[in-house]
Amino acid sequence: DPIHTEDENNSNQEIVSAVSSSDNHISTIVIIIAMQTEALPLVDTFKLTEDRNSPFPKGTPWVRYYGSYKGLSVNILWPGKDAALGVDSVGTVSASLVTYAAIQALHPDLVINAGTSGGFKAKGACIGDVYVASEVAFHDRRIPIPVFDLYGVGVRQGFSTPNLLKELNLKVGKLSTGDSLDMTPLDEASIVANDATVKDMEGAAVAYVADLLKVPAIFVKAVTDIIDGDKPTSEEFLQNLTAVTVALDKTVARVVDYISGKSISEL
Ligand code: ADE
Repeated sequence: DPIHTEDENNSNQEIVSAVSSSDNHISTIVIIIAMQTEALPLVDTFKLTEDRNSPFPKGTPWVRYYGSYKGLSVNILWPGKDAALGVDSVGTVSASLVTYAAIQALHPDLVINAGTSGGFKAKGACIGDVYVASEVAFHDRRIPIPVFDLYGVGVRQGFSTPNLLKELNLKVGKLSTGDSLDMTPLDEASIVANDATVKDMEGAAVAYVADLLKVPAIFVKAVTDIIDGDKPTSEEFLQNLTAVTVALDKTVARVVDYISGKSISEL
């Protein structure tokens, strides 16, 4: 370098590395997905491998798929099948545990919770729509005592991603979480109070853990059934699960493509 002294070059080098580390460059992501049907196509898309030597306690059904994709270390975490019943471990308890264990073991820069959801047509949702949640909250933790009521609702913000939303032209709505696929009248009142467009069984639990451990989290939810429509939820959900999963996975892949090479503050 004919212009700069050795000392100047060294200090510039230090500045460059200081900037890139404080710049929140995204290198590791964890994607939490509750159902195998939703997870496997993405494992395929990202060409991930199952971790046969997972960092999780022996006997837990939690499955980690990992690999390198477009410069990112990508991990898909699936809570696995219930040991006794053989069905996917859906719901908030498994989701919070696997989120906690994954963050502890993998130190991700970003958590993505991806999955299917019910949608409210009164709020503009249609089957196959994919939403990013601006805000998540619980609708089945009713504690009618001052302040405990707010703790029960447990509202958290999705990490703000204005550039990602604009670039990928994604729908945005609030997400409400509970441990039931159906909806009782009391749940419905809470969901309306939460101003939710989509309803799932994991989001607010993942948000709680990510917030505890100070990891940014985003929520990508595809609509399999219309809650305020005339079809029974479980029938409509099962009927649409496979087709809607294709839409979900396409969107998650676009999100991960967008994230690759960026820093948290650029989202
Ligand atoms: N996942 C898919 N559809 C759902 C619904 N209606 N409620 C909760 N979780 C869901």
